[in-house]
Amino acid sequence: MSDRPILQADPGASYRANKTMLDAALARFFASGRFILGPEVAQFEQDFAAYVGCRHGIGVGSGTDALVLALKSLDLGPDDYVATVSHTAVATVAAIELAGAKPLLIDIDPARFTLDPAALARAFAAPPGRIAAIIPVHLYGLAADLDAILALARQHGARVIEDCAQSHGALLNGQRLGSFGDLACFSFYPTKNLGAFGDGGAVTTNDAALATRMRELREYGWRERYISHLAGMNTRLDEMQAALLRVKLRRLDADNAHRQAIAGAYDDGLRGLGFGLPIRRRGASHVFHQYVLRVAARDALQAALRERGVGTNIHYPAPVHLQPAYRGRVAVGPGGLGESERAAREVLSLPMYPELPDDDVARVIAALEAISFG
Ligand SMILES: Cc1ncc(COP(=O)(O)O)c(C=O)c1O
Repeated sequence: MSDRPILQADPGASYRANKTMLDAALARFFASGRFILGPEVAQFEQDFAAYVGCRHGIGVGSGTDALVLALKSLDLGPDDYVATVSHTAVATVAAIELAGAKPLLIDIDPARFTLDPAALARAFAAPPGRIAAIIPVHLYGLAADLDAILALARQHGARVIEDCAQSHGALLNGQRLGSFGDLACFSFYPTKNLGAFGDGGAVTTNDAALATRMRELREYGWRERYISHLAGMNTRLDEMQAALLRVKLRRLDADNAHRQAIAGAYDDGLRGLGFGLPIRRRGASHVFHQYVLRVAARDALQAALRERGVGTNIHYPAPVHLQPAYRGRVAVGPGGLGESERAAREVLSLPMYPELPDDDVARVIAALEAISFG
């Protein structure tokens, strides 16, 4: 076995694996002379919405902007709360404030790392104000407990925006994540399951009125060119990224199958070594944006793996409510965020990307065996 360093993620590998088709897409893009909201974006939006199982897809500049735009389309007021988790990429929470509403942070179910419906129910029972919307995050590629969350949303008249930045292609009971809520937001950051070669994002929805509003908001609030009917922004999916994403979308299911095969090998190799391994849920396909171990001595394990040339990452080292920009000023649900804080201390993401060689997977497992028995 080689001893070259193993990367935790390698978006460059996805270019090398699809070079011929990506180069052809780029050539087509340059030849078209259409560089903003041209045919590539229009076709990608249609294909991606169809893939997710929604009627409308709106391409935007990033996953963060997808969340901002989705929230803005709901026309929330400054006293409206949006319930979400603290154990997520900061973008989920940042977007709520950028859209002019207030985050309300709810603890996670520690087994699946996603919004705990029981904690959400307690928040609805004693809300700090109107909870107008909920953003469940399908973290690491596994569905949040949507049945319970959607039921609570219906009961309390709240809208649901799925944060699908880490769950492209994942299924729940045969239906794609992103087609359950009122709106769903995707990031195409290069390491995502559907990754571009720069920033990008999209919103999907079945609501024609919300889709129209988001199309206007993403481009200065224009309904016709140069006339703003809404106070909008500029966040368009780049035409070049759309051309490349059309290639990557055709690869998404195969890429996810590779991630699942790697996860299966990790499961088999790591069972019984004393690490908390990712759970599976009946009826839900986990697409393994990340394969996350749970271990009390996380920092020591990360250092020992680094010494053996195995790259890892921590998603995320600090829950949002403990980060300097948010500490002490964001609303927290009843019961606090103890599980989110514990997760931040214990999670470790192993190397995971579709092109990760089998040899490297074996080396990661061997290193973890050596560390846990040594
Ligand atoms: C859960 C989650 N939400 C939102 C985002 C924001 O996406 P972007 O980086 O494209 O703005 C990300 C990715 O960073 C994410 O992982």
